[in-house]
Amino acid sequence: MRKIIVFWSFLFVNLEVSICLRVVGISVPTLKQRGESVTFTCDYDLEGGKLYSVKWYRDNEEFYRYMPRLRPPQHAHKLEGVRVDLEKSSARRVHLRELTLKSRGSYRCEVSEEAPSFHSAQAETFMEVYYFPRESPRIVGHERVYELREPLDVNCTSAKAFPAPDLQWLINGEKVTESSWLIPYDAVHAAQGLMMSTLGLRAPARRHMKIRCVAIIGTHRRERTASIETSSSNWRGAPNINLIMLIGCVNKILQIMS
Ligand SMILES: *[C@@H]1O[C@H](CO)[C@@H](O)[C@H](O)[C@H]1NC(C)=O
Repeated sequence: MRKIIVFWSFLFVNLEVSICLRVVGISVPTLKQRGESVTFTCDYDLEGGKLYSVKWYRDNEEFYRYMPRLRPPQHAHKLEGVRVDLEKSSARRVHLRELTLKSRGSYRCEVSEEAPSFHSAQAETFMEVYYFPRESPRIVGHERVYELREPLDVNCTSAKAFPAPDLQWLINGEKVTESSWLIPYDAVHAAQGLMMSTLGLRAPARRHMKIRCVAIIGTHRRERTASIETSSSNWRGAPNINLIMLIGCVNKILQIMS
C-alpha cells in the first residue's frame, strides 16, 4: 500500500513539473518608431524545474540566448535590424537599440528546462516598425487661377514614411468622399525602404475654396492647407491682368485712330 502511494505521488510531482513550465506572458510592443529602442520581456513559470535556456527569435532566426550554466550566460547573434544591448538584457528580457525598418517581424521567446525533462514552451508576437513623415505633405497645382467649376488639377504627396501614409483631402473642412474627384496613384519607393504616397484632387473649383491634405499613419497625422483662387473672385477683387491689357490696347487703338 505504502509503495503504491509513493509511486503515485512521484508520478504526480513529475507530471506537475512537466505540464507546468509555461510562458505566462510575452511583451513585445506592437508598434515602434525607427531609431527607438525597445525592451521585450518573456515571463515564464518554471514551477520548481530548472532553467536550461531562454532563446529569442525574429522570424525564426535566433538573435539572443541566455543559458545560466554558461559563463557568461548571455550570447547575442548578429541579425539585421537587431542590436542587442547585453547589459540591459537578462534571463527574462532583451533590450534592442536603434530599431530600423528591418526590425519589424514576429518575435518569439522559447524557454527550456534542464534535463531530464527538457520541456520547452514559447510565445510569439509581431512588432511593426514605423517611420512617421518628418514634414507635412506637399500640395502642387494650386498656384494657378481656376475658372469657376473647372476641375482642379492638384496633387498631394506625402513626405517619406513607412508604411506609405494614407492620404485624405478636405474641402473647406469637409472630407472628400466623392470618388470621381479623387485620383489615387501608386506609392513611390524612396531611399532606405521608405515610401511616398500621392493622391490627386479633381473637384470642381468654387469660390473661397480651402483645400487640406492629411497624411495619416495610425494615429499620426500631418497636414497642409492651400487656397484655390478662382478667376471670378479675382475679377471681383482687383482688376485682373486681361482687363489692364485690354485698356492698354484700347488706348493704343485710340491713339492710332486720332
Ligand atoms: C500628379 O501626380 C501624377 C503622378 O505622379 C503625375 O503624373 C501628375 O502629372 C501630377 N499632377 C500634377 C498637377 O502635378
